[in-house]
Amino acid sequence: MIEPLRVAVLLSGRGSNLQALIDAQHTGALPIELVLAASNRINAEGLRRAERAGIPTLALDPAPFATRAGYDAALFARVAARAPQLIVLAGFMRVLDPAAIAPWHGRMINIHPSLLPKYAGLKTHARVLAAGDMVHGASVHYVTAELDGGPVIAQATIDTVSGDTPESLAGRLLPREHALLCACVDAIARGLVTLGERGVMLDGVRLTQPMNLLSDGQLCAAVGAE
Ligand code: GRF
Repeated sequence: MIEPLRVAVLLSGRGSNLQALIDAQHTGALPIELVLAASNRINAEGLRRAERAGIPTLALDPAPFATRAGYDAALFARVAARAPQLIVLAGFMRVLDPAAIAPWHGRMINIHPSLLPKYAGLKTHARVLAAGDMVHGASVHYVTAELDGGPVIAQATIDTVSGDTPESLAGRLLPREHALLCACVDAIARGLVTLGERGVMLDGVRLTQPMNLLSDGQLCAAVGAE
């Protein structure tokens, strides 16, 4: 029996990735305890999802704070009070102050809707289509001071098809994102994935490239792991 990993989720909107974690945890398959859902948007749908699941919530409006650093310090002090072992950024639409991130090095991950290092930042689906890419995807990575730039744990891919719009692409990718996030959180909760000095470690072996999400929801490491 694995001791559940204490997980805090930061979000700004819909919260479908949080819902995926809630659902996976409820099936008993994901050994985590969701100890907090926090948002910079008071009306975020994700907070309502958390309330329905009985997860403590925190809505902290940035408006009264004079600086980003001040807001982030206040936010992360409140998050730390719940003693999470892992922070998941799931649609948290704010750039974070490096000083707030630093204490969580190796204990904070983000899900991003592109195959990083391609398309860091916003409007990833439109940028993929504009570039004519035939493959798109999502990445889960450890958070560092560089926006969407930390070591990538794993990726899920989908093909683009003729007639795709940013919306159709986003809609097809979303369920893969949910499976990817659950698989990565599961691997971390089981102690299989950690962040080492030289990159992501899988069972003590450094990954030379991100793992891939298979269609059955399992993560697969390339042979090139060393
Ligand atoms: C997801 O596409 C995620 O990759 C991105 O923001 C979106 C959040 O969706 N970072 P949701 O709020 O989890 O539904």
